[in-house]
Parts: sequence; structure tokens; C-alpha cells
Amino acid sequence: MNDILNRSLCKTYANFFPIGAAVCPDIIKTHSELLKKHFNSLTCENHMKPALIHPEEKKWQFEEADAIVDFATANKMKVRGHTLVWHKQVPDWMFIDSKGNEVGRDLLLARMKEHITVMMERYKKQVYCWDVVNEAIEDKGPEAYRQSRWYKIIGPDFVDKAFEFARKVDPEAKLFYNDYNCTSPEKSKKIYNIAKRLKDNGRLIDGIGMQGHWNIYNPSFDRIMDTIDLYSSLGLKIQITELDISMFLFDDETKEFKQPTDEMIWLQQERFEGIFKIFRDYRDIITGVTFWGVADDYTWLDDFPVKGRKDWPLLFDTQHKPKKAFAGVVNFE
Ligand code: GLA
Repeated sequence: MNDILNRSLCKTYANFFPIGAAVCPDIIKTHSELLKKHFNSLTCENHMKPALIHPEEKKWQFEEADAIVDFATANKMKVRGHTLVWHKQVPDWMFIDSKGNEVGRDLLLARMKEHITVMMERYKKQVYCWDVVNEAIEDKGPEAYRQSRWYKIIGPDFVDKAFEFARKVDPEAKLFYNDYNCTSPEKSKKIYNIAKRLKDNGRLIDGIGMQGHWNIYNPSFDRIMDTIDLYSSLGLKIQITELDISMFLFDDETKEFKQPTDEMIWLQQERFEGIFKIFRDYRDIITGVTFWGVADDYTWLDDFPVKGRKDWPLLFDTQHKPKKAFAGVVNFE
């Protein structure tokens, strides 16, 4: 068992796909040993998002993102760019003109283009793929699109435009549409339709990012496989971009657990084992698996969906030791 727990995650998966982690500037210091041993791809958890990197029209703050990119380069890791166009963590100035009114379509498109161009030019050498558009699709109901400011001001082709701009700036970069709940039959069909349009109109898209904010109960392995089959039938690649396996069902608001129970630990191991088996089986289609965090001492799920509730969604525990789930992922020969 010790031998198994000493393995390196990314070396074990070297013949399959890169293993990534989302990080903040602090994490590359506090978790550097784990990162260097187990991960060969990084994503900025927040510091490439417009609100942080482009807080005012003429103001860019690259330092934190640069530090993460430099750490990745120094350690021979890939970098996934996240994210260029999203309805959250986008500064208000983007949608307001100099007179304080809401911008029109042309100005917003010009700003989108400028943002995408500066970002992709700057990181051209290091960032090999980008989440060009994040979460543009409505989860339920007849509407295909989320009623975001991007959508309301530009119209449905804001997605196409973002991909067009991105393709022009860096024709080598792999361009992804990224979303959560993308195994839901209803939402996956909508994502499929939009991806098909982007594919048919000049091969603007290379892949779908399935975020992978899942839990120890769902989605089912069959749903995951069906979804990968659906997207890849378009000839697109898949990346799992934000993987974490919560100990709680999404609508479970319990706060009674100070530690995970044995049952939770076992179910999590079984889930991780099962989904990585699927990922390996789809190695020709899956070109990256990124965790949304490194170890259980730092995870956004401690505040979502229930504020202040501890969760344990990753492969390393709060002491940075590999969990049973880790053994399930690396021990497959
Ligand atoms: C979404 C976004 C990520 C991150 C998570 C929550 O999945 O794509 O950037 O903000 O929510 O941490």
C-alpha cells in the first residue's frame, strides 16, 4: 500500500492525459510539493478572470497570473487558460459606456475583442488551451442561453464572436466551451447544438470542458459516458476542467459532519476509481483532467453551496497526505 501511496499522479497518467490543478498565488507556495510531484498542468483559479486581471478599461493586473504561469513553466507544466467570457467575475465597466449608460452591441464586441486579444497575445507561448466561453447555456427550460449581459446586449452570436476572435489571435491554441451540469440530458443537448454550430461554421471550437463539480452520489457513470459520447460525436475533444467530488448531494444543507464518515470515504474512493476508469477508457478523446484545487485544506466547496461547511472533495487530505481515493485512482494495472 505504501508503494501505491508514494506514486506520482501525473507520472502514473503520463500515457493518458495531463493532470491539472486550479491554483491561487498562495497555493503555489503552500502546496508546491504536492504540485511538483503530482501535477503537470495548472489553471488560475481566479487570476485570469476579467474582474481580477482587467479591473478597469485601461488597467491590467498581470502580476498574480504571471507568477502562476512562471511557476508552471519553471516546473515544465502546461497551462490551461480560464476564462475569457463569463457572466461572473467580469467587471461592470465592460457593460457601461463613458456616460454611464449600458453599452451597445458594437462597443461590447470591441471590448470583448480587445480583452481576448490582450490575454491571448500575452500568454501565447505558455497557455495551450483556453476556456473561451464559460457557462453561457441555461440549465433548464426552453431557453438555450443564460440571460447574461453578454447575451442580452450582443445576442446569441456573442459565443461565436468570442471564438472567432480567439481563433484569430492564436490559431494554435485549443479552444474550449466550458460548463457545469453538462451531463444533464437537457443541458447537454443544448451544449451539443451550440458546439455543432461552432464546429460547422469554420471549426471554431476544439473541445468541450466538462467542469466535473460532482459528488459521491451522482452523476452516474452511464451519464458521464453518454455525455462524452455525445460531445465527441462532433469530433471534439473533452477535458475535465474543474473536478471535485463533494461529500454532499447538491441540495443537502446538513452541517452535522466535522469529519467525513467511513461510508463517505468509501463512496468517494469508489467514485474516483470509477470515473478515472472511464477517463482512461476514453484516453483518445480526453486530453486533460484538472482538479479544482489540490488538497482538502483549501476548496471553494467549504463555502458552496453551504457557507462555512467543511467538505473533502479532492485526492489529498487537509494534511496533504494521499487519501484512499488516491489509491483508487493510481492503482489500476
Ligand atoms: C465555476 C467557474 C470556476 C469557479 C467555480 C467555483 O465552475 O468556472 O472558475 O469560479 O465556478 O469556484
